[in-house]
Amino acid sequence: MFHRGSPFVIGHFVFSHSKQMDSNLAPTTLVIFGSSGDLTWRKVVPALYNLFLDDLLPEKFCILGVARKPMTDDEFRARLREGVDRFSRRGKATDSDWRRFAPDVSYLATDYASTDTYANITSRLAAAEEGWKTKATRIFYLATPPSAFEPIVRDLAKNGFHSDRASARVVVEKPFGRDLESARALNATLTEFFHESQIYRIDHYLGKETVQNIMAFRFANAMFEPIWNRRYIENVQITVAERIGVESRGAYYEKSGALRDMLQNHLMQLLCLSAMEPPVAFEADEIRNKMVDVLRAVRSVPPDGVEQFAVRGQYGAGRVDAKEVAAYRDEKGVARGSTTETFAALKLHVDNWRWHGVPFYLRTGKRLPLSASAVTVQFKPVPHQAFESCQGDWLQNSLTIYIQPEERITLRFQAKQPGPQVCMMPVEMRFNYADFFRSPSPEAYETLLLDVMEGNATLFMRADQVEAAWKIVTPILEAWSVPPTSDFPNYGAGSWGPEEAQSLLARDGFSWRNPKMAPKSAATPK
Ligand SMILES: NC(=O)c1ccc[n+]([C@@H]2O[C@H](COP(=O)([O-])OP(=O)(O)OC[C@H]3O[C@@H](n4cnc5c(N)ncnc54)[C@H](OP(=O)(O)O)[C@@H]3O)[C@@H](O)[C@H]2O)c1
Repeated sequence: MFHRGSPFVIGHFVFSHSKQMDSNLAPTTLVIFGSSGDLTWRKVVPALYNLFLDDLLPEKFCILGVARKPMTDDEFRARLREGVDRFSRRGKATDSDWRRFAPDVSYLATDYASTDTYANITSRLAAAEEGWKTKATRIFYLATPPSAFEPIVRDLAKNGFHSDRASARVVVEKPFGRDLESARALNATLTEFFHESQIYRIDHYLGKETVQNIMAFRFANAMFEPIWNRRYIENVQITVAERIGVESRGAYYEKSGALRDMLQNHLMQLLCLSAMEPPVAFEADEIRNKMVDVLRAVRSVPPDGVEQFAVRGQYGAGRVDAKEVAAYRDEKGVARGSTTETFAALKLHVDNWRWHGVPFYLRTGKRLPLSASAVTVQFKPVPHQAFESCQGDWLQNSLTIYIQPEERITLRFQAKQPGPQVCMMPVEMRFNYADFFRSPSPEAYETLLLDVMEGNATLFMRADQVEAAWKIVTPILEAWSVPPTSDFPNYGAGSWGPEEAQSLLARDGFSWRNPKMAPKSAATPK
């Protein structure tokens, strides 16, 4: 797997994606637009700081924060340190470590519309390169609201920052468009100036260790791939459940909803990794080709039959963790009569030889009973049951890959109950990453930022991938632009979503496998 210090070597993966060989990274300057914001504070800089502590940053490296908010270098550094102290997986920075990290961080308070902005950036980057006596890789990270992406890209190009294909890179945050048309427009602007190989579209989900491990599990083991198809698999269920509500993001969420915010990107990535064909090599275009193939094979949802394939919901008041919580419509920043969906479930078919006839069910929602992301592969029943079940229902084999917060894999199978009778009951075999791999997983942003510095785009979305994912959800977005006929809210906080989501599977004779937390006592023996 792609984990530093792992005792395993899995095929060629470890060689092509190892984080143990980064000492020779080229000198790098990282320019962060929108650096006064939440993302830089909470995710990007804590990730860079951890890379620094792990000696994984280039030896010659500097960060230039750019934003409009007036701040001195010292004020900017103080804010970033506060972010590291609060959000770094290693806890608070020590004074001595921070003193080594901070001098390479500086800030430029500027209005992007001003002609001086890019001249100032040029001179700052040139000064660093002169000091190092060498040209550097220049990374431009767009951490602003999406409305600022296109103007910044155009200004970067106007000032020649795009021209060196080998060393200039641009990182674009999600959301990548709000529908197919806007995603295409943003891709058109980016590719007008930057070559596709220079563009890194982040979906931080792909940087998570367990998400990458879906590939390792499938393609580095001989025993699963032969049964990973329509002959043995009955259905596949992908759940990304959140226990939290919208919290402080009400105003943003009102314009987004569950389909745009989660399903079009994170759940589509999980669909691709679960359904893709084996790659020939762990290389950016090879992996991304295989992922795009999945999206291209997804059968279109008929615009006049969306309700047969998609269910939306919105949470009402309810109880979560034995506490009363408010309805979505009573959250801050949310309209009283809002029809924004906080839950979305989808049934998709992947029309190719491997998956024909196997439904993929995807669901995501807020204020569900627990926070958990999991992929469950439900196998077909045995063709003939020669034994009795002692538990009433005979539970089919299933394999669940838990992605977060727990990282584990469980395999359910039948076992004979002890005793004189030959009587079966379902049991679970469980593998927990934390029990086996003692070192903590890096944060997704650590993995992804390092990949950008290395020039490795494997875990970033290509233009055609983003557009293919938008294309799948377009008929649903269009149908859902009309307010729902049944009244919202239609599920209580703390439940698994609206009744219709159960019916989506029940119509096919199936039911959702809800993620479960592993019982503490049943951890895999060390
Ligand atoms: N926060 C997260 O956890 C997260 C996760 C995934 C993706 N993202 C994405 O990452 C990007 C940044 O997120 P964020 O949470 O840091 O956003 P944010 O705090 O709202 O904005 C970042 C900064 O952008 C600047 N800004 C605001 N409006 C602008 C405008 N119209 N033009 C130019 N600059 C503007 C502001 O700085 P100044 O006013 O000082 O210029 C602000 O501090 C967004 O696209 C977001 O969707 C964020």
